[in-house]
Amino acid sequence: MAGRVIAVMNQKGGVGKTTTAINLGAALAEIGEPTLVVDLDPQANLTRGLGLTSADVTRSTYDVMTDPERKLADVVIETKWPELFLAPSHIDLSGAEIEMVSMYGREMRLARAMGGLAERFAYILIDCQPSLSLLTVNAVAASREILVPMQAHPFALEGLGKLFEVYDIVRREINPEVELTGVLVTMFDRRTNVSREVVRQMLAHPRLAGHIFATVVGQNIRVAESQGAGAPVVHFARTCPAALAYRALAAELRAAPPGAPLAGPQIDMRERAAPEPEPEPIGGEGTPQAQPAPGPPVAEPQAAEDVPEAERE
Ligand SMILES: Nc1ncnc2c1ncn2[C@@H]1O[C@H](COP(=O)(O)OP(=O)(O)OP(=O)(O)O)[C@@H](O)[C@H]1O
Ligand SMILES: [Mg+2]
Repeated sequence: MAGRVIAVMNQKGGVGKTTTAINLGAALAEIGEPTLVVDLDPQANLTRGLGLTSADVTRSTYDVMTDPERKLADVVIETKWPELFLAPSHIDLSGAEIEMVSMYGREMRLARAMGGLAERFAYILIDCQPSLSLLTVNAVAASREILVPMQAHPFALEGLGKLFEVYDIVRREINPEVELTGVLVTMFDRRTNVSREVVRQMLAHPRLAGHIFATVVGQNIRVAESQGAGAPVVHFARTCPAALAYRALAAELRAAPPGAPLAGPQIDMRERAAPEPEPEPIGGEGTPQAQPAPGPPVAEPQAAEDVPEAERE
């Protein structure tokens, strides 16, 4: 059976795309799923996050994008972790778009280069750069699904319209098969009402209904530490909340075939601060009090409980 090819995209910078590609990939590999992570970002953060420097990279996605003869399989390397494979990036990739301008079928270059890789791997996760560039279009054109990490931040939904615009164009013109599997809430801080408000807005967004993962990734300092150490947090700090969240995400993704509705975050949406007490209703004791609307089951997401507040980013 062909594996699942998933573009991890959001044109907003710093929302957790690379962290998600690394750790979802590592968590899938850990449960025995042969997984390839593809670094399609010239920043090469995914490549570095798996412990490689540019000196270690002889062949990269740059070669794949600019040489029509090159197959993605030619640049795939093993990582230190069983079942986890990497197609590394290189800073040269930043010049690829210009080199590709006169290339025939340039939006389909990655899709063509994938060859039979989807038969070899159960999951292929493509880490995109933070822009709706030709490289990102290539990632979406080569994928069956997209996964959009969104930081639980007030500006999270900004730019979602633009993202859907590109997604719709690619669906219409290049790859009618591609579907939004899910939005992943990242860097959630359960102590803040702002985080909750953002999730509330996401849940109310008409195009996101059924497309938000129940798994939420909390803010956790171990993530940055693991990236500094060149290892997935799933292995670097095996039991920290972020590692547990990415394992839960792997299980959730595995259980939800493309197109299946997702449950959405099961978090307590009520304000953290105690509300002002309601005035006593006329009628005194015995009058039924208004109950809060039955919300989703209250289960706090994995957050940064293990880290003292001062240490958090
Ligand atoms: N759950 C988390 N808790 C704390 N820090 C996090 C978490 N996830 C990611 N980060 C940190 O946030 C920063 C941005 O994360 P990441 O590089 O994954 O985002 P990105 O969307 O790939 O960024 P870019 O758009 O530049 O490619 C990094 O410094 C990373 O260590
Ligand atoms: Mg990134």
